[in-house]
Amino acid sequence: MPWGLRCLSLCIASCMTLWNGVELVFPPPCDSPIYCTGDLLKRVQTAKLFTDDKHFVDMVLREPPEQVLQNFQNLLEKSPGGNLSRDELFQFVNLSFAPPGQEFEPWTPKDWPENPQILKTISDEKLNRWAKELHAIWKSLGRKMKNDVQNHPELHSLIYVPYPVVVPGGRFREFYYWDSYWVINGLLVSEMKATAKGMIENFLYLVERYGLIPNGGRVYYLRRSQPPFLTLMMDSYMAKYEDSEFLRLNIHLLEQEYEFWMSNRSVIVSLGGKNYTLNRYNVQVGEPRPESYSVDLELAGNLTEEARQELWAELKSAAESGWDFSSRWYAGGVTKQTGTLRDTKTSAIVPVDLNAVLCQTERLLASFYKMLGNLSKVQKFEAARTRRLEAVQAVFWDTALGIWLDFNLVTKQRNKAFYPTNLAPLWAECIMDQSLVEMAVRYLEESEALSYRNGIPTSLYQSGQQWDFPNAWPPLQHIVIEGLAKSSSARAQEMAFQLAQNWIRTNYAAYEKYKAMFEKYDVNGDGKPGGGGEYDVQEGFGWTNGVALQLLERYGSRLVSGADTVGSSLAAAVLPLPLLLLPGRRI
Ligand SMILES: *[C@@H]1O[C@H](CO)[C@@H](O)[C@H](O)[C@H]1NC(C)=O
Ligand SMILES: *[C@@H]1O[C@H](CO)[C@@H](O)[C@H](O)[C@H]1NC(C)=O
Repeated sequence: MPWGLRCLSLCIASCMTLWNGVELVFPPPCDSPIYCTGDLLKRVQTAKLFTDDKHFVDMVLREPPEQVLQNFQNLLEKSPGGNLSRDELFQFVNLSFAPPGQEFEPWTPKDWPENPQILKTISDEKLNRWAKELHAIWKSLGRKMKNDVQNHPELHSLIYVPYPVVVPGGRFREFYYWDSYWVINGLLVSEMKATAKGMIENFLYLVERYGLIPNGGRVYYLRRSQPPFLTLMMDSYMAKYEDSEFLRLNIHLLEQEYEFWMSNRSVIVSLGGKNYTLNRYNVQVGEPRPESYSVDLELAGNLTEEARQELWAELKSAAESGWDFSSRWYAGGVTKQTGTLRDTKTSAIVPVDLNAVLCQTERLLASFYKMLGNLSKVQKFEAARTRRLEAVQAVFWDTALGIWLDFNLVTKQRNKAFYPTNLAPLWAECIMDQSLVEMAVRYLEESEALSYRNGIPTSLYQSGQQWDFPNAWPPLQHIVIEGLAKSSSARAQEMAFQLAQNWIRTNYAAYEKYKAMFEKYDVNGDGKPGGGGEYDVQEGFGWTNGVALQLLERYGSRLVSGADTVGSSLAAAVLPLPLLLLPGRRI
């Protein structure tokens, strides 16, 4: 049933307030009148019954949604003026919902090996012991859904998928799309073929079922995606296991996901009298994000209804980028220094990294089809890649700075700020002319970003958002290090190693201190977890462990734990130390 009809039939009273005098141009985040729209959601979240808005929308219904909405209606009718106290609301919620986190049963991956090969290749004793512990964390991050999720989807916000998953950890109780790329890479280092393949199977299932891969495994993520790594996941898996039968059976779904991005997330950029087709994050969906409802509602404050809906759509587009949130998206004609979260206008930015991923996807689809012997498809994707290379060169490459930069559709300018993603074309091998490699490497060498010895910061601007300075994120380290490592420049390769060494030392120092792996780190502290943004820093942590294992696999014979050589953590916490002495770098 379309959301409007279902909503009408299920919650006439609550939807009237939603529609009261307001022309809703955007659909809500999903069809569910419990988890995505409606009066109950609004009341629970604005009453802040739980410290994290994600708590309520992860709860499991004890009765069918129609029944719960009816009960809620009855309760409201009994209450004077339809007002409920916080206690009454809390009681109703506990009566009607079970606490979050109960949709899973304990599950240990059966393919977890005691001693994967990687442990034989790590020389430093402390790092070797640590790698063994990292490898063991997969067991605690594995989740298998109870049958009830499949049999009674209407009682759950969790989206059913057929195979067990490895989750990021902490408040992230379900799978996440782009996180899973680094999780899968880590599982492959850990020789967990079946678990890695199962996760890819889940994503293929989601493409078939929904036409896109949602941001994460909850219904409230259904109308937004995340950076499209599915074809790259398949490539990681194929590189290790050459399972061409699996590829043959599923390549149409890789292509279908690619087509979703091309038909629903593309934009034409006119520049120098020519038109280029590129991609952007763009979620035309209204209402506050259900999992951050009160935050979004407060942020929109006294804006007009139209402006509120637009802001909420842009916040969801930022979530789709994976960078939620960042001054990188403060694009509504403001500079990042004067902008605030309210100036988020993600759809006005054409991002380098998204286009690098799709450029890589085009190359991989051409090579997969070549492997399978479908030459008309090979031609299709080679042509798409040629067009992409031209567009990336014309729109993103900045001759003055010698690097690729995001393009702002409002100002028609490139954004000159540093982001690690400016180097993404290097990693994606999306380069027209090899002479650009040396220039891109020089850009990085000369950037202030390299003066932080605990990782490459997300930006050089401290906005208070988590995808900005001083946080450093594992996927961004991987993209830069991998890009440098696979370039033909010896200087770049050595730089890649130094950056890997810095990152491993930071991860290890934090692990020593907290016995935990974090989703992000602070470049201003030796082993200090990151902060900022809308929730506390989370432990686990899927992509952090994946990236660390990949770096240990690549550089295991050279990396050192460095725990003895790191200076006092106190001094390091107050000073951004320009300590990284790179070969060829003049200070
Ligand atoms: C893509 O856009 C078309 C046209 O607007 C829409 O009908 C379709 O549902 C969208 N696809 C997905 C998966 O959202
Ligand atoms: C290649 O793919 C096209 C489109 O799916 C299909 O019609 C054609 O039969 C395929 N050719 C081969 C040789 O598999």
